[in-house]
Amino acid sequence: MRRLLVAGNWKMNASSEMTGTLLSGVLDNLPDHCDVAVFPPFPYISQAVDLVGGAGVAVGAQNVAKDDEGAFTGEVSAAMLADVGCTMALVGHSERRALYAESDYDVLVKVRQLVKHGITAVVCVGETLEQRKAIREESVVSEQLSLLIGELSNADWEKMIIAYEPVWAIGTGETATPEQAQGMHAFIRSELKKVSDTVAAKTRILYGGSVKAASAAELFSQPDIDGGLVGGASLDAAEFTAICRA
Ligand code: PGA
Repeated sequence: MRRLLVAGNWKMNASSEMTGTLLSGVLDNLPDHCDVAVFPPFPYISQAVDLVGGAGVAVGAQNVAKDDEGAFTGEVSAAMLADVGCTMALVGHSERRALYAESDYDVLVKVRQLVKHGITAVVCVGETLEQRKAIREESVVSEQLSLLIGELSNADWEKMIIAYEPVWAIGTGETATPEQAQGMHAFIRSELKKVSDTVAAKTRILYGGSVKAASAAELFSQPDIDGGLVGGASLDAAEFTAICRA
C-alpha cells in the first residue's frame, strides 16, 4: 500500500533560527502513520539534516541543476544534494515553471540527475486558472507528464512522486475541493498506467495548493490522494504537524 507523505515546501522562507524552531516543533509531534519531509532553501539543508538526525523526517531540496558539475554559477548539483544528506528534491514547481521558464524537458533532465544519485524526485504538475476555465486541466497535466512517462524506466519510477498542484490554489487560500482533487489524481494515476500497472498502483500522488489542517483530512482520505505538498502552512510547526496528523 502507498504510505501517506506530508511534505513542507518552505520556498524562500527561512533563517537558522526558524529552521531550528520549526524542526524541533515537527520532531516533537511526529506522527507514525505517515512520512514527513521538509524542503528548506539550500543554505539550511545541512542544518536540517543534522537536526533530524535520521529521525523519520526526510530533508529535500527545492530545485537541482541539470548538469553534473563545472562552470554553472549559482547551480547546485544532485551529487552535492546527496552528499549533504538530501533524499528528495522538488522538480518543476509551478513557480519555477512560471518565473524561471523551466520546461518539461528541463524537468526530465533534472529527474534523471536525481535518480542517478538515489534522490527521490517530487515532480509538480498542475493547470492555471485559465486552463481550468477552458476545461483543459487534463490535457495540460497529461502534457506535463508525457516526457516522464515516455522516457523513464520502471526502476526510475521507484524514485518518483507526483505532486498535483493546481496553480490557482497555490498560496491563494483557495483549495481544490476533495472531488476536484480526487478527479485529477485518478486521471494522473490512469496516465501512469501507460508506464505500467505497478507504477500506477505504487506511485504516490500528493495534492498541493493551500492545504490547511482544516482541509487536510478530507483531501487525504480520497482514494488517490497520498498526502500533501504544503507551502504556507508548513512554516507554522503547529499547523504543519496538525496536517501530518490529519
Ligand atoms: P501553498 O503552497 O500551500 O502555500 O498553497 C503549496 C506549494 O506551492 O507547494
